[in-house]
Amino acid sequence: MKTYKIAAIPGDGIGTEVVSAGVEVLAALAKREGSFQFEIDHFDWGGEYYKKHGCMMPENGRSLIHGHDAILFGSAGHPEIPDHITLWGLRLAICQPFDQYANVRPTRVLPGIISPLRSVQHKELDWVIVRENSEGEYAGVGGRVHQGSALEAATDVAMFTRAGVERIMRFAFNLARSRPRKLLTVVTKSNAQRHAMVMWDEIAAEVAPEFNDVTWDKMLVDAMTMRMVMRPQTIDTVVATNLHADILSDLAAALAGSLGIAPTANLNPERNFPSMFEPIHGSAFDIMGKGIANPIGTFWSTVMMLEHLGEKPAGERLMKAIERVTADKRFHTPDLGGKAKTAEVTAAVIDPSMAPISDGVRNGLLHALYLGNYPVVIVVGAGGFVGVRTDVAAAWCAFVADPVDRILRHQTDQDRQTVLKFDSIGSLFGIIVVLHAIRFCQKNTRS
Ligand code: IPM
Ligand code: MG
Repeated sequence: MKTYKIAAIPGDGIGTEVVSAGVEVLAALAKREGSFQFEIDHFDWGGEYYKKHGCMMPENGRSLIHGHDAILFGSAGHPEIPDHITLWGLRLAICQPFDQYANVRPTRVLPGIISPLRSVQHKELDWVIVRENSEGEYAGVGGRVHQGSALEAATDVAMFTRAGVERIMRFAFNLARSRPRKLLTVVTKSNAQRHAMVMWDEIAAEVAPEFNDVTWDKMLVDAMTMRMVMRPQTIDTVVATNLHADILSDLAAALAGSLGIAPTANLNPERNFPSMFEPIHGSAFDIMGKGIANPIGTFWSTVMMLEHLGEKPAGERLMKAIERVTADKRFHTPDLGGKAKTAEVTAAVIDPSMAPISDGVRNGLLHALYLGNYPVVIVVGAGGFVGVRTDVAAAWCAFVADPVDRILRHQTDQDRQTVLKFDSIGSLFGIIVVLHAIRFCQKNTRS
């Protein structure tokens, strides 16, 4: 069996709560899939570690995680430690030397989540922001002199290299190409920043002809914020500098309903180093320890991790389970206006028995369909019964009913029992509906 070695670094604040939820979900998923397993090593690096040891992670920290297949990260930030120390001491101390230069941030309005934008639903807001993650405004170049005196001076130099810009442009064009709309917006600020941003624009234009099938445009970052709010449906894939994308991705997350949902992948596309997956939200000390952190951002990040590990179907199944849970308001945490606890959301994602009753009915139909081997299945709707060809119904059921989809494919006893337990009412209902409908049809044919 394949074993993936994962380094879990919960970090600070709610990072510890969401990472342990993520680890729980990964373990449950692997058990259910049966074809791979995770070996998870935990690292207690972060603010508390700093208070004890004077550094956010040990000096040989990176060598301890270099051999892992992926990193699951929580957050770095501590109320008693300056933010630049926590950031540079841990997250950037991993991202930059591991050359995780492509930071990918998908944004979608998940089922059951309401966007603050009037009339925006799922299809109007489906973006991926690609953040340059190795240089730019986060290059760390600059300095400070005459500290405390009236002559004090400080600089932060945004440093861009041709190699750095070329590789992120190619990555973004490739990603845009892989999405149905093949649309890329290059965000810039070359009107005010007349050196590096002009080079950024030029390199975008140089790389573009390699991707003739991708339609692309260029947008100043200030105008981009307006477009995200006023014309979200015109956006698909976006590429922006480290700082611009940092800011735009918080706006994107808010427009999609909550920062608590937003995932991210820090990728080293060449796979010379492990990539790192984390929710976008920070350590959120105000809600730490209350058990109400939204774990969805972490779960979605683990979906990205599965995809990176080559376990795309498992990732898709997990994403379906996440969407089934967000669609049910009982499992909304306070950031979404609900009362659910982290543990409840986690349990709901793991356990198909927490599926809403409509899933039970749907699954019941599917059981009836497979058990009875009928050529036609009857689907109940508001308007009465509708006859649907078996293959069409099967495709539909497989699409909407992930737990059943799973038992039909994997047929493990444990899965079968879990689904049958919660499905008994739905199954009964579905079987009765199908049998009645068949008798009804037979009677009508006879007469
Ligand atoms: C992000 C975060 C970080 C960043 C913070 C926590 C330093 O805002 O990942 O978007 O600015 O990179
Ligand atoms: Mg940010």
